[in-house]
Order: sequence, then structure tokens, then C-alpha cells
Amino acid sequence: MSWIPSRKTMFCKAFPSKKNKPVQTPVTETEHSRWSRIFSGSDFYYGLEPGPVARRAVRYHRPLKNGGRALDAGCGEGQDLAFLAQSGYDARGVDFTQTGVEKSQKLLRQRGLSAQIELGDLSTWRDDARFDLVLAVNSLQFLGAQAPAALENLKNHVAPRGVIGVSMFARENAADNALDGTIYRWTLEELLETFADWQPFEAAKLWQWGGGGPQPFVTLIAGNLRAL
Ligand SMILES: C[S@@+](CC[C@H](N)C(=O)[O-])C[C@H]1O[C@@H](n2cnc3c(N)ncnc32)[C@H](O)[C@@H]1O
Repeated sequence: MSWIPSRKTMFCKAFPSKKNKPVQTPVTETEHSRWSRIFSGSDFYYGLEPGPVARRAVRYHRPLKNGGRALDAGCGEGQDLAFLAQSGYDARGVDFTQTGVEKSQKLLRQRGLSAQIELGDLSTWRDDARFDLVLAVNSLQFLGAQAPAALENLKNHVAPRGVIGVSMFARENAADNALDGTIYRWTLEELLETFADWQPFEAAKLWQWGGGGPQPFVTLIAGNLRAL
């Protein structure tokens, strides 16, 4: 049985979590209903602190521009979004779950921060705005076959001298199918190739230990310095 959530399996464990919380997932559940359910509790599933990709992306962006517009694509319960707002960005979050949007609004309200938080599906989300900082932290893999196009779309929303920070599920073997059920998995080489004309700041493959075994991830923070 695969440790990656798949509709083929009866139940999946080892869902990626900053707390390594395994989640029992019925196969028939869609990504949307699964995330809506995960965020429906009163606690914050991934906690209240910003993750490392958000922190590091802000650090890389600061020398290029102080503040500006920031987008958190797949913002979940808003801990990274709150960090962006607190760091002086005109912050915007997009998530396709109502529960995530409401939790994000609650977190920002509690902290006296403001951000634009909208319900949106990243597979179709488009906007005229360009952002100085874009995050997509462990969200794009859940778009399945539409994930590469969604990443390309986010790249196009990064302003010149802007920074993008992403992390997503990886596959160990490049020869394996990138799609595992509803989940898309990159290799680090593919991710670097996608950003070949960007300035990489850091790129890594890492593993998170979950209930079902080691979960490989790739992460990349890069600057849009192409036209400069
Ligand atoms: C693992 S959580 C990560 C949440 C947040 N970025 C964080 O680091 O805590 C995955 C997030 O992606 C969102 N997501 C998955 N598919 C999406 C889609 N098609 N459109 C918008 N959000 C999506 C989920 O609702 C969830 O908030």
C-alpha cells in the first residue's frame, strides 16, 4: 500500500504534517472534503507558527524589496499568511476550503492583523495582480494532473525581483509515474528545470518521517530576476 493518499487504497496514513499526525482517509473522499474535514476542528491542525519555507522566503526577499504584495496559495489555516501580514506584506491567501478560509480569518483577527483571504481553487485561480512574494507550501501536489500547470500559473504571478517559495511531495525514482492516484510528485531535478531561468536561493530534497514511513519532499526558493 502506498503511503501517499490515493483513492485506490482503502485507508491512508502518514499524511504530511508539521506535527506528524497520521490521518485516516477514506478513499472515496475528495481532496476538498478531506481538507475541509481536517480544518473543521477548533484547534489549528498545523499549529500557529509559520513554517520554514515562509520564514526563509521572507528572509531571501528582504534584500530585494522590503514588503510589498504577498500571496499564500493554499494557505490552509493561515499561520504562514499571518506571518506574511506581520512581516509587513499586503498579504493575500487563497484556499479552496471554507473551513481553512474561516480559520485563517480567525487567526488574523485574533492577532489584530489583516489580509485578503479568498475561497479559490488553484487549478483555475487567475488574477491580474503580480506579487512580490508567493508561497505554495505543500498545497500543489493535491491538484494531481493539474499541479504542473498551477505551478506555472503561480510563477507568472511573481513580479520582477519577486521571490517564490514552494514545497511539495517528491518521488524517489524519476522513472516512476509523477501521478500517484490524485497526488502529483516532483523530482528535485524537475523542479529546478521549471525554474531554470530564475535565480535559485535554495533547493533541497528532504524527508519527513510519518506513520507510514519517510515522506520525501522537495523545496525551492527562487527569485524572478530574469528580465533584470
Ligand atoms: C498540507 S495543507 C498546507 C496548508 C498550508 N500551506 C500550510 O503550510 O499549513 C494543503 C493545503 O492545500 C489546500 N489545497 C489543496 N488543493 C487545493 C486547490 N485545488 N485549491 C486551493 N487550495 C488547495 C488545502 O485546502 C490545504 O489548505
